[in-house]
Amino acid sequence: MCGIAGYIGSREAVPIVMDQLKRLEYRGYDSAGVAALDGDVTIVKSEGKLRSLQDLLSVDSPSGSVAIAHTRWATHGGPTTRNAHPHADQLGRIVVAHNGIIENYADLRRSLMDDGCTFASETDTEVLPHLIRRHYQGCIVTALREALRRVRGSYALTVVCADEPDLILAARHDSPLVIGLAEGESFLASDIPALLPYTRSVLILEDGDLALIRRGSVSLIRTADGSPIHRDPVQVDWDATSAEKGGFEHFMLKDIFEQPETLRTALRGRWTDAGLNLTETGLAAAAAAAIRRIYLVGCGTAYHAGLVVASTWERRLRVPVTVEVASEFRYREPAIDDTTLVVLISQSGETADTLAALRLASAAGARTQAVVNVVGSTLSREADGVLYTQAGPEICVASTKAYTAQVASLSLLGLWLAELRGQIGDAELHRIGDALQVLPSQVAELLQQAPAIEAAAAELERFHDFFFVGRGLDYAVAQEGALKLKEISYRHSEALAAGEMKHGTLALVTPEVVAIAVATQEALREKLQSNIREVTARGAQIFGVVPPDCGELAELCRWRIEVPRTEPELAPVLAIVPLQLLAYYVARIAGCEIDQPRNLAKSVTVE
Ligand code: AGP
Repeated sequence: MCGIAGYIGSREAVPIVMDQLKRLEYRGYDSAGVAALDGDVTIVKSEGKLRSLQDLLSVDSPSGSVAIAHTRWATHGGPTTRNAHPHADQLGRIVVAHNGIIENYADLRRSLMDDGCTFASETDTEVLPHLIRRHYQGCIVTALREALRRVRGSYALTVVCADEPDLILAARHDSPLVIGLAEGESFLASDIPALLPYTRSVLILEDGDLALIRRGSVSLIRTADGSPIHRDPVQVDWDATSAEKGGFEHFMLKDIFEQPETLRTALRGRWTDAGLNLTETGLAAAAAAAIRRIYLVGCGTAYHAGLVVASTWERRLRVPVTVEVASEFRYREPAIDDTTLVVLISQSGETADTLAALRLASAAGARTQAVVNVVGSTLSREADGVLYTQAGPEICVASTKAYTAQVASLSLLGLWLAELRGQIGDAELHRIGDALQVLPSQVAELLQQAPAIEAAAAELERFHDFFFVGRGLDYAVAQEGALKLKEISYRHSEALAAGEMKHGTLALVTPEVVAIAVATQEALREKLQSNIREVTARGAQIFGVVPPDCGELAELCRWRIEVPRTEPELAPVLAIVPLQLLAYYVARIAGCEIDQPRNLAKSVTVE
């Protein structure tokens, strides 16, 4: 959701920031712009994809060794060139690119207009350069601090000033920003993959930081009082190519095929021959014993990961375990006290609603535990404890490998809590642990069925209505499968607890719809089979995700993918893989823009 890039060094800056923006495309955007400093500031902007901006730059590109750039995902004002960032003050010498939302922009805009300012866009962001100009008396740092004192909302922003040409400023509040350091040059970006081709030395900004970025050096101060901050850069050991497509046609396919490896990484060092070790979570016996209630909170796919583990956790831990969508949880005054554990699940660790849920839980005295992928993200820093899912950078907007890593990590966390509380015996623990260890090779086995799934997708692509049905944990998988298909193929897809079909949705079942049946839970298979029969009786065709030798159920399926047997509580990790591939192939055959689906963003940092 919006991307910021910046460069200050001795090379031509515009090609570098454009390359950085390209690496941030996965965040989602609908317009883009660049501002380069060379005595004056020159801004070039365009609506649409980066290639439109690149076309303009190839005719006439500003030069200079300092530039900032931005990809915008529209919030205030349409996705037009006029609203694209960067935005400038009226003299065109103070220029700002911004991610987030300025909540009091309407008041600020009115007051600036009373002062005679004219606005060139409909954005909330444009108040910033005008406000900075209002306070500018020869020091851009002071002016920015004064402006930010008057701003309410969330921001990651970067500022350049033509009168102080050897400096880029960056400030953060509730929206991520990272700085890359190299010999004689510095880089700025919303996310680490945009820095990796240039440096591994990364300084992660925290809320309230203001960075003064010069060629090869950065000083940090607190925005509020100007006091200095000392923070060492971290060395990022991701391989730069791991953030790129690695030979696959799309990032999504690469992410799907990486799952055996990401699962191995999620388990590494945590389940060993010596047993389970999750001391890194900070959860010890006394804290675990005190837990009387658990909430699992996330958005979208992360919420679905919570759905998968909740009933297993509740069965073992004998405390109520509730799964909630963060945007609902944060506004409904849930019952929380110091005996509550709130687990926040997120790939990015920057999702606004999930962060709000975390803060609400902390304020109410709960222990908070992040299960998160991005190292150094806000969620990881603010939660009481962290379990990293270690899935590596996930570039495609649709989450795949992050989801299976979330489910595996949450499974481990549930076992860890049960062990700390003395609620699981050795035999059961080792049975599940052994099953966890073979999951990566079982996923690899499933991936070999990709050609069969692609062939099914070729027939399914003509359909526009899909009902994903399952019971128990299969219903949780159905919800994630339906989300995958709808977000990248734009097919109407809806998940239902199979037993609910006859309470209404059966009215929609005709030969023109497809039912995707998820049937890994042996104990519920017969019940599901009856529900599927009701669907086939109305002419709908069935794509089944089923175990081997499933008898009568197999005969009901027009298309069938067999999932290796595992412990019932781990079956969702396997069952989702064919559904991810199905979504991918339907979308590809339909010619959809897979890695950046329309209207969606990778990291949803606004409400
Ligand atoms: C899933 O494919 C989506 N990209 C979306 O539902 C995502 O899972 C959700 O926005 C939560 O993001 P997070 O994991 O980064 O918090």
